[in-house]
Amino acid sequence: MPSPGHRPEPLILALPGNEAFARNLANAGAWKLGTIETRSFPDGESYVRILSDVAERSVALVCTLARPDEGFLRLVYAADAARALGASDVTLIAPYLAYMRQDRRFLSGEAVTSRSFARLISSTFDRLITVDPHLHRYASLSALYTIPTITLHAAPLLADWIAVEVARPLVIGPDAESEQWVSAIAARIGAPYAVLSKIRHGDRDVEVALPDLSAWSGLQPVLVDDIASSGHTLIEAARQLPQQGFAPPDVAVVHGIFAGDSFERLKPLCRRIVSSDAVSHASNVIALAPLIAPSLAATAESVSDLIRHRRPPEPLDDVERAGIDSFPASDPPSWTGGRD
Ligand code: R5P
Repeated sequence: MPSPGHRPEPLILALPGNEAFARNLANAGAWKLGTIETRSFPDGESYVRILSDVAERSVALVCTLARPDEGFLRLVYAADAARALGASDVTLIAPYLAYMRQDRRFLSGEAVTSRSFARLISSTFDRLITVDPHLHRYASLSALYTIPTITLHAAPLLADWIAVEVARPLVIGPDAESEQWVSAIAARIGAPYAVLSKIRHGDRDVEVALPDLSAWSGLQPVLVDDIASSGHTLIEAARQLPQQGFAPPDVAVVHGIFAGDSFERLKPLCRRIVSSDAVSHASNVIALAPLIAPSLAATAESVSDLIRHRRPPEPLDDVERAGIDSFPASDPPSWTGGRD
């Protein structure tokens, strides 16, 4: 039995597609990697089974939330299962946090999905650890999320990559929002920076304007952004730099979502494109596990920061008590005579 105020070492569990990240994280903290089985029933519903013993363990579920609609339910089922099987607490490690953009109603009748998504996560997990969430109108996640959240920043890792890989860089942000990143990165590596201006007309329709960058001619442009989503921001910026006599830029992003064929369209406009492994992609070169591991380790020191907003576990009823001994959920129950 763990002593009060002390949490056992985290057990890391990966949702599908997050296995490599989870392994890196487990290695970074010398933690145990557990196993979850997931599959779909013939009708498309999700099946989740935790194969590791989670009783009285602190469980960290690793699931980046790019394209969240595909796997969100099984993530909730995994968290609920961990809790029902006796996990002391359940942390979500989501290197990319979804649904951060629709944080207000821009047109009448729209769903404010940032708020709904935050409520769903907050009612499922005890804690959230994420990297560079796309905070825009809210200053911090605590304005949306009711559970403790840890927000980490990948800018120093991007800066270190630029310092090692790019001679004479000019760090460029594609829009005013990116100034926070590019100024911090430029300061860390002692390079100049510039910020472009962007007008977004629609999801895939952006206009980027370059100021006069002639003072930095001869430097290697490095476009830096938090997200490449539709990719149009970076495509527009990369397309215009040669018009001012610059070499094709390097691109460094934290979250390389690169929807549709955007990566293939951006590639010929650039010298190199790199991203962190927050979202699994061919451009991944910057590992985030070493950034996340110390935060997860720090949460193990105490449960005093843990505020449980979710409902308490429900007592077992007759169906649950009979559960394991009766029939597996994927087969027809015996009282149907073997028929579905
Ligand atoms: C803007 O606010 C962000 O920093 C990114 O520039 C933007 O989200 C990228 O979106 P997309 O790739 O769809 O142009």
